[in-house]
Amino acid sequence: MNRSTKLRLPWLLFLCLIGFIATNLSAQSFMTNPNGRNVTSLNGNWQVIVDWYNRGTGMAIYQDRKAIKPTEFVEYSFDKPTLKVPGDWNSQDPRMFMYEGSVWYKKEFTATKKKGKRSFVYFGAVNYIAEVYLNGKKLGSHEGGFTPFQFEVTDVLKEGTNKLIVRVNAQRKEEYIPAMNYDWWNYGGITRDVSLIETPKTFIEDYFIQLKKGSTSEIEAWVKVDGLIKTQKVTIVIPAAGIKQQLTTDVDGYAKTSISANLQLWSPSNPKLYEVIISTDEETVKEKIAFRSIEVKGFDILLNGKPVFLKGVNFHEEISKDKRRATSEADSRQLLQAAKDLGCNFIRTTHYPQSEHLLKMADEMGLMVWEEIPLWQGIQFGNSIILAKAENMLREMIRRDKNRACIIMWSISNETTPAADRDRVLTNMAATCRSLDPTRLVTSAFNHVKTEGNKTILDDTLSNALDVVGINRYMGWYKAWPDKPGTMLFESKFTKPVIISEFGGEAKFGNHGTADSAGLWNEEYQEQLYKDNIAMFKNVSFLRGITPWVLYDFRSPTRMNAVNQDGWNRKGLLSDKGEKKKAWYVLKAYYDSIK
Ligand code: GCU
Repeated sequence: MNRSTKLRLPWLLFLCLIGFIATNLSAQSFMTNPNGRNVTSLNGNWQVIVDWYNRGTGMAIYQDRKAIKPTEFVEYSFDKPTLKVPGDWNSQDPRMFMYEGSVWYKKEFTATKKKGKRSFVYFGAVNYIAEVYLNGKKLGSHEGGFTPFQFEVTDVLKEGTNKLIVRVNAQRKEEYIPAMNYDWWNYGGITRDVSLIETPKTFIEDYFIQLKKGSTSEIEAWVKVDGLIKTQKVTIVIPAAGIKQQLTTDVDGYAKTSISANLQLWSPSNPKLYEVIISTDEETVKEKIAFRSIEVKGFDILLNGKPVFLKGVNFHEEISKDKRRATSEADSRQLLQAAKDLGCNFIRTTHYPQSEHLLKMADEMGLMVWEEIPLWQGIQFGNSIILAKAENMLREMIRRDKNRACIIMWSISNETTPAADRDRVLTNMAATCRSLDPTRLVTSAFNHVKTEGNKTILDDTLSNALDVVGINRYMGWYKAWPDKPGTMLFESKFTKPVIISEFGGEAKFGNHGTADSAGLWNEEYQEQLYKDNIAMFKNVSFLRGITPWVLYDFRSPTRMNAVNQDGWNRKGLLSDKGEKKKAWYVLKAYYDSIK
């Protein structure tokens, strides 16, 4: 090898290394309101390969090679089965009913590349791990089954045919959130929308337009642009409120402003939405945004300055009659309408951020929302990566939904056990919540309370970090009544509003008989349990809301009573087919009695 070649070699290696890093570490980016952009849907049938033993990465399935010579051994092919996207795989193929391994998805699409434009691939949610490749190049990966992510593909997208390949893995692991053993079905797959988004070179990346904390007449707005020319003139227009505000972004692409406004405030009885238009010279983004104030004062929750009682219900993102993940707007409407029919003004979207269109619909239908990340029971708080993962999920949830006025509180956990590590992690997370969004309340659902005779004492010190305390209390189901329900007492160590964030019991629709303990699994037993809990609620002076567990029977691998459960959690007020159990009428009457 001559001298000049020797000199060139290190340079060549260096350039290859840079090239490898650039194509494999395309930064995960973000944009708010992706569907308000220039969007091409990639939903539909995707070709798939079920990779049970996780051999596909080693086989470089993401290159989607074809055997050219007889000796070239390509032992995979996308050319046969397909799965619908969005959608879980469990409900689409009976062989995958309980499958929790890897599946490779492939979508071929054509694109036209335009000068001066940027392109992104956006995923609404993939459960649980996603590794994304475009035209054989790794874009990056994402962990977490319920929040959106995207990658910029401007330099990887081709004119004409492109191949988008995703490896999805749905194994449960101790160091995941949720961890190994949770009471809902582990639906794997690309479970929400996938789209290709085109933006100008410098685009409106993010904005937050809501009422300032504690105000009903001052909007606090910030806008962030991303791209080469950071200093941009941005206009915010809210035509129906007679607002037109100009602002100029700084060297970081950021601008903040206050706008005094005379607005119709959003509430369940008047879910008023405004069209908000944000524009620069190159781009206009629109969406419907509502305005309301939410605060706590002593034991009260104040909506637009007035005390409110939250008549709620819990539900999973599942269409139980079809045993599948809810994915469409029609699915969201079914779930929300069932809550409205029950007389609710509030929903707890358990136990994870549900789809963006469900939350936009809750804005439209006037349902206040408690939204949470899936930090559910047995979490490894001592594992240092947990805080980072949990905070990342919190950040992804809040940056996606911060312009949804229906959301009145963020919840940081469900049923975690009091301990030093847990208090440290969750106190940090409450602070992160407030730094990301100072306008909303912070809560959490506990199930560790002290019981002394007929008294329940709320003394979980984590409450000090919260605005509202949630208590999951299954009197009459997991906990026997120590005395007559109407004699139950509650004491709280904190001058804060309390929500009974879960209560209830199981009944199999159509099971009838006595309401006493001999009638376990009867509708009459569940009906009496609701009457008893309502009698107890009347004694809780600081109670400001209830969310019974649960709207519909839902699927869970932990429910193994083959006669009455058979893989279903039967605490629904509605059966898996949507039939009203007798307890449904008890709760409806109670909610109708509360003005
Ligand atoms: C817990 C938990 C729920 C679960 C419910 C039950 O409180 O938060 O996810 O389904 O109880 O036991 O049915």
